[in-house]
Amino acid sequence: MATIQEKIEFLKKSQEKIKLGGGEKRIEKQHAQGKMTARERIEKLLDPGTFVELDQFVRHRCVNFGMDTKELPGEGVVTGYGTVDGRLVYVFAQDFTVEGGSLGEMHAAKIVKVQDLALKMGAPLIGINDSGGARIQEAVDALAGYGKIFFRNTIASGVIPQISAIMGPCAGGAVYSPALTDFIYMVKNTSQMFITGPQVIKSVTAEEVTAEELGGAMTHNSVSGVAHFAAENEDDCIRQIRYLLSFLPSNNMETAPVIDTGDSPMRMDPGLNTLLPDNPNMPYNMLDVIAKIVDNGEYYQVLEHYAKNIITCFARFDGQSVGIIANQPSVMAGCLDVNASDKAARFIRMCDCFNIPLVNLVDVPGFLPGTNQEYGGIIRHGAKMLYAYSEATVPKITVITRKAYGGSYLAMCSQDLGADQVLAWPSAEIAVMGPAGAANIIFKGDPDAKAKTEKYVEEFATPYKAAERGFVDQVIEPAETRPRIISALNMLASKREARPAKKHGNIPL
Ligand code: HXC
Repeated sequence: MATIQEKIEFLKKSQEKIKLGGGEKRIEKQHAQGKMTARERIEKLLDPGTFVELDQFVRHRCVNFGMDTKELPGEGVVTGYGTVDGRLVYVFAQDFTVEGGSLGEMHAAKIVKVQDLALKMGAPLIGINDSGGARIQEAVDALAGYGKIFFRNTIASGVIPQISAIMGPCAGGAVYSPALTDFIYMVKNTSQMFITGPQVIKSVTAEEVTAEELGGAMTHNSVSGVAHFAAENEDDCIRQIRYLLSFLPSNNMETAPVIDTGDSPMRMDPGLNTLLPDNPNMPYNMLDVIAKIVDNGEYYQVLEHYAKNIITCFARFDGQSVGIIANQPSVMAGCLDVNASDKAARFIRMCDCFNIPLVNLVDVPGFLPGTNQEYGGIIRHGAKMLYAYSEATVPKITVITRKAYGGSYLAMCSQDLGADQVLAWPSAEIAVMGPAGAANIIFKGDPDAKAKTEKYVEEFATPYKAAERGFVDQVIEPAETRPRIISALNMLASKREARPAKKHGNIPL
């Protein structure tokens, strides 16, 4: 009979073998491609020494195509828990060195276990994906595994933050779990996402495309809008995930951590008084406004490379995490289009799920006109913004810097869509439409059209008509924007707003 010492030795040896995953050769291949192993990624992500691995000894029970003799250490996925900045998180990392990180029944069961734990404990779940998709030998068992994961992704949506990192070729089923999570990170040059790869595409449609063009980091960050962040390399990706977590609460019953940023809440910035060009048709960079008002000029853009006509970012005011939605006048004059509406609506809903107040910076001439947009369903997509803002019950503060015309004024969270405080700079132009368009209609053919248009501009392209009706709460000097926003956030800290009980709403998708 084995002694306890021998049993301990056996345990250690077994663990060492499992930790080697697919073996030295495959690990070397992974490193040569600029990729870390699953365990290396987890070690980097979590606070040192905090990772506790679960289910090391789980084995597949597939007997098809010679699988009965195939050992897959750790079942091709490393799972467990640990902390990031001292806060509990759950994690899984697929191990590409083991059967290409492909997902079989028991691989899925390991992921499902951490999903369930994360949901029960109210802690974020970070999934590191590096997988060839459904393990083909396991057939329908693999599909069932995906189904269970997708189901839990959906149930956990809006309860705990779910973050996906794509760190290799993710094909087939491997892309849909990330797509159901809140944030997707991709690493430039070493990660791809696609439903069907280049070879299948070529055989079906004769179209030729490289894996990187088809589903690389920049394709999904700038063209499809599937991924929210593009990292330079895996180290950068992991650093960014830790940073993102600092803006988020652990679950929907908590608020995000408040951090002492050292920036005075009373700080004014006279530079804001001269930031706007005198000509209202000239662009400026809204990121300059954001940098001047938030703590230490620090913000973190979500979907930075997609629909650049709108900015969505996290930042802090007096240490408190907020979500900023801002028109960008230097891209398409800041018009709202299909992609910008989708980008903003999803960000608004994510912030609302996680009790993160919304600050809206408005300089918007309208929805982008044209058949392209109409055929693309701008009515349906623009409605998402109206819906998302109306539905959101977190504190909502709107600052109008310049143009706020018509439907787009409403879509950027006017008072009637539930803004709790609307602040306007003296340069604000809040009107049903821009002066040129208005004059074209109401003064058409009028010999005094020029003079009347000038009068229209003086009277209507200002914040004062809206302020007269109380649609604007405060007209402020631009320099004092930061202290005014912080004051409003403090005033709104105890906000409670109920909505009628319902199963769920029916957002236009
Ligand atoms: C089983 C797989 C696998 C898979 C890769 N492997 N994908 N085994 N099932 N889905 C194995 C390979 O056989 C190989 O084993 C090892 O993993 C490494 O793969 P390579 O091909 O050598 O690596 P690489 O050249 O880097 O190419 C990676 C890849 C490619 C692009 C991901 O492997 C690939 O195209 N795989 C199939 C992708 C796919 O079509 N997935 C869809 C599955 S169906 P050895 O022993 O040689 O090291 C699906 C439907 C689910 O997912 C739908 C749910 C909604």
